[in-house]
Amino acid sequence: MEFCKFMGVIILDKLVIKGGTRLKGEVSISGAKNAVLALLPATLLNEGVCTINNIPNISDVKILCSILQELGAVITWPTPNEITIDTRHLISHEAPLEMTSKFRASYYLLGSLLGRCHAATIGLPGGCNLGPRPIDQHIKGFEALGAKVEVTQGKIVAKAKKLIGNPVYLDIVSVGATINIMLASVLAEGTTVIDNAAKEPHVVDVANFLNTMGADIRGAGTDIIKINGVKKLQSNVTYSVVPDQIEAGTFMLAAVATRGDLVIKNCIPEHLDCLTAKIIEMGGNVEIEDDSIHVWMKDRPNKAIIKTQPYPGFPTDLQPQIGVCLAISNGTSIINESIFESRFQYTAELNKMGAKIIDQGKSAIFEGVKELYGSSVEATDLRAGAALIIAGIVANGETKLSNLNHIDRGYENIEEKFRKIGANIVRITEED
Ligand code: UD1
Repeated sequence: MEFCKFMGVIILDKLVIKGGTRLKGEVSISGAKNAVLALLPATLLNEGVCTINNIPNISDVKILCSILQELGAVITWPTPNEITIDTRHLISHEAPLEMTSKFRASYYLLGSLLGRCHAATIGLPGGCNLGPRPIDQHIKGFEALGAKVEVTQGKIVAKAKKLIGNPVYLDIVSVGATINIMLASVLAEGTTVIDNAAKEPHVVDVANFLNTMGADIRGAGTDIIKINGVKKLQSNVTYSVVPDQIEAGTFMLAAVATRGDLVIKNCIPEHLDCLTAKIIEMGGNVEIEDDSIHVWMKDRPNKAIIKTQPYPGFPTDLQPQIGVCLAISNGTSIINESIFESRFQYTAELNKMGAKIIDQGKSAIFEGVKELYGSSVEATDLRAGAALIIAGIVANGETKLSNLNHIDRGYENIEEKFRKIGANIVRITEED
């Protein structure tokens, strides 16, 4: 339990990191958080039993499974990373509001329930506070299919007499909207074409999963996705979640920041091409095998210029982690954040550790320092949390990292994985 209150005293989990370690060894990557959080709602479209492997054991998955059970899914966990979901008989199209508000990807329940039941109610999605995160493009897509969507009193209600395929042009490249519209149109009448679609690996993974269940989706991974509606999905299928591109990138950058030597196994190297290029630019060494990436670094990283972009550009979800490398780089670097407004909150925490970063809102300037020192810092969001763990491992002295609920939402066994490659890191429970 990350947080609890006992007799008026707040008890919090913290990570205590004794820094100054160069990470070395092998680390195995889990299934992708952002894929599984769409695959699980996608099962609602299927009147059958899905077995899904390579499930990351993270708290967002646990909440989502509880929601699916409330909707009538029968779920078993034969092993910690495998799940079977029987969605033959649903009992509700209304997801518990409080639970859906706990994480961002609950918005995928809208597309799935709308597709299966022609009606869906969820609470306003939560998740990391990265600035305004509208869902107007999701709604525009549902409306193009003939649904009526109302956002009222903390909930979103979508209804349709029937769903009819139509063209949808996304005004902004959105992963969430692309996947959600895909989900809603699988069982629609006719063809839906999503133009200016997101191309992230998990968009492709969701399309592959839906096609395995009997959907007819073409073009995922390009910016035009065509969904030919089918009458029913009624399959018993087995599927394996794609490896987590962001977790793999996090460990690649941990090798760079700590001047370490890591082999990152069970990943898809092509998903990380832009990061590989940046690491080489920064003076790092990268060797690619079929499903592993070897990264090692001898000196301080070179300065760099980073601009976050939709895939295949540099992922915003690796921005804080590369920020740690730039904080200790040789020279002055710049990051331009073009996806989310408030993604530099972690820089204030890094500055507590001796970094010299100026947050200018849409960009940040990193004046590289030779070393960081341990401090008490807070995970301001999920990826910021991962970045601060890396910073703690780099820093001289002891770092105490709090607000771990963010990290536990998206990284499986993170401290265990870092410990195995040499980090001195423990989780403690402390009174606040
Ligand atoms: C998803 C990922 C998140 C990642 C992000 C970008 C999940 C659960 N989360 O978030 O980890 O950081 O993609 O790769 O998969 N936008 C609109 N209107 C919309 C939808 C989005 O204006 O209807 C804007 C957003 O504010 C943002 C940009 O589009 O500026 C991209 O957002 P999007 O790709 O939708 O991100 P999420 O799905 O929220």
